Amino acid sequence: MASISRRLFLQGAGAFTWATAGVGSYALAFEPGFRLNVTSYRLAPPRWPDELTLRAAVLADVHACEPWMSASRVRGIANFTNDLAPDIVFLLGDFSGGHRFVTGPVMPDEWGEALSVLKAPLGVYAVLGNHDWWHGALPGMPADGAEGVRRALRSAGIAVLENHALRITRNGEPFWVAGLGDQIAERKGPRLFAGRDDLAGTMAQIRGPAPVILLAHEPAIFRRVPDRVSLTLCGPTHGGQVNLPIFTEDFLRRHYRCDIVYGHLVERDRHLVISAGLGTAHAPVRFMRPPEVVELTIGGPRPQS
Ligand SMILES: [Fe+2]
Repeated sequence: MASISRRLFLQGAGAFTWATAGVGSYALAFEPGFRLNVTSYRLAPPRWPDELTLRAAVLADVHACEPWMSASRVRGIANFTNDLAPDIVFLLGDFSGGHRFVTGPVMPDEWGEALSVLKAPLGVYAVLGNHDWWHGALPGMPADGAEGVRRALRSAGIAVLENHALRITRNGEPFWVAGLGDQIAERKGPRLFAGRDDLAGTMAQIRGPAPVILLAHEPAIFRRVPDRVSLTLCGPTHGGQVNLPIFTEDFLRRHYRCDIVYGHLVERDRHLVISAGLGTAHAPVRFMRPPEVVELTIGGPRPQS
């Protein structure tokens, strides 16, 4: 009886070890380094005209670094996005990678060149994220005020919106794309940050009744976004990276000062979409929250119910 129990114990321990190693390998290598999902939303936000149908692709939190998000993987993601044939592409910041497990940098000119293949008839627009400020041009190097990231994006033909709003027209129908400066751009202390965001100044540039899409790296701003904005798009949560309730519930909602850390929220008739993003921060792990390209269809014919 004792030997059977010992054999069962050893078999169970062996199976547990293999299962743990398998899950670990998946979470550390396969999901963050190889998987790519398309997450589609069909939205009918308020103040969005029936005549305007817009298909947008959203890429967030690239976090370029070796070995998980090499320049060739970024290029592959960009080509994958082109295959979705969006009207417009939005990039939601955090292009730089910089956790302690990075084996080598992917320089801004490298990931910028990879992103330069993105194509959309209405253009490609980006905001910066906190990591673009914190890491500067290279992981582990002093911040350079995000100028290296700006230069790389502009060289790639990507418009950088920092507290700036642009009026765009599709088939004669206008809409606005507004991009916010990063809300925690500068570290002033252990939990103290200074933002470069100017929501009021950005909104003041908007004229007329055309609908507004706001790009903002961090979702904390959503509580202050005026009703005038139909849709706010945010990144930095990575959807928690590890999608287990113990990690993703109250703690992350408090940390990001938002009622959700992933997905679609409608609050006071205002729409918010938070992407799981593409790369990783803090640790190179993803579990049940794979990298994703978000595909939005905004407006147009309502689905039959
Ligand atoms: Fe990020």
